[in-house]
Amino acid sequence: MSSPFSRILITGAHGFLGHHVLPQLRAAFPEAELVAVGRKDYELLDPGVPARMFRDIQPDAVVHMAAKSGGILDNRQRPADYFYNNLAMNTVVLHEAYKAGVKKLVTFMGGCSYPATAVSPIGEDQMWNGLPQIDSAGYSVAKKMLLMQSWAYRKQYGFNSVVLVPGNVYGEWDNFNLTQAHVIAALLRKYQEAKERGQAEIKAFGTGRPTRDFVYAGDVAATVPWFLAHYDSSDPVNISSGTRISIKELAEAIRNVTGFPGRIAWDTTQPDGQMDKIFDVTRLHSLGLTCSTPLEAGLRRTLAWFVQARDKGEVKL
Ligand SMILES: NC(=O)c1ccc[n+]([C@@H]2O[C@H](COP(=O)([O-])OP(=O)(O)OC[C@H]3O[C@@H](n4cnc5c(N)ncnc54)[C@H](OP(=O)(O)O)[C@@H]3O)[C@@H](O)[C@H]2O)c1
Repeated sequence: MSSPFSRILITGAHGFLGHHVLPQLRAAFPEAELVAVGRKDYELLDPGVPARMFRDIQPDAVVHMAAKSGGILDNRQRPADYFYNNLAMNTVVLHEAYKAGVKKLVTFMGGCSYPATAVSPIGEDQMWNGLPQIDSAGYSVAKKMLLMQSWAYRKQYGFNSVVLVPGNVYGEWDNFNLTQAHVIAALLRKYQEAKERGQAEIKAFGTGRPTRDFVYAGDVAATVPWFLAHYDSSDPVNISSGTRISIKELAEAIRNVTGFPGRIAWDTTQPDGQMDKIFDVTRLHSLGLTCSTPLEAGLRRTLAWFVQARDKGEVKL
């Protein structure tokens, strides 16, 4: 792809998705200069810093991934922090990008911003039908404002921004801290450690019947150059596999991948949570894009990364 941009600024570049997005941008736009920044370069909550970042770097395109993200326990305890950090950062970054004359900005919200009552497969048209699940609403409602800001700045100023909605993302560089991790990272770690300890049994919560879809981070990242170059709309796009899998099937796949030889004991007295949560990927497919890494292949890559990074002391446990 020949680059329509000469300098692309990437915020949150050293986070989970950032590690996947950077090589995709490098491959897609070899002649563009990539400027990857993290919090120690520019603290985006400090007044004046986002404006300084745009003055210093003068990008013509931005991939904005800086965000305060965390696990459900932390979200429950500190909803104000999740709300303020994300709303403040996003509002100012998009505003300063518009003021700096940026030609295109791509950013992310999350599938958790959909209403708690959304019906699967969850299409983009359900976004405004109700309040998201309350446990992470501080985060998810703040992130949702990106959609309104993208629409408003496009309408009033012609500012070209795009908001992508990844589903349940997993992959290398994910967060494996058990109080913060999402389900795949948490299970990979639990099963791997159970195997290493020679444990006979692993407890699993609920019946295992609820269904979800999962998307490999490399697949999400691979769509970013295309959106940067070709998609000029504030209509959100779900980025997911759209493949339905039960929690029981996921647990079996993880047992397979880790080689844990023991038993999985399902504690059916524990609640199952939402029974079915699948994202509708019709819009993504209509753009000629898919997220098609098979779950088992993605799990193997993620596990291999986790084991070697953990053994080198590079994972926050
Ligand atoms: N991971 C998922 O499952 C998922 C799903 C859907 C959507 N998303 C969205 O995708 C984007 C990237 O997510 P991720 O999983 O890569 O998140 P992540 O690993 O937490 O990375 C976010 C990055 O943002 C930076 N950051 C946080 N606060 C900042 C601040 N005040 N100033 C400057 N930088 C700051 C952090 O930099 P430091 O490392 O320097 O602190 C961090 O590297 C986010 O918008 C997220 O909401 C993620």
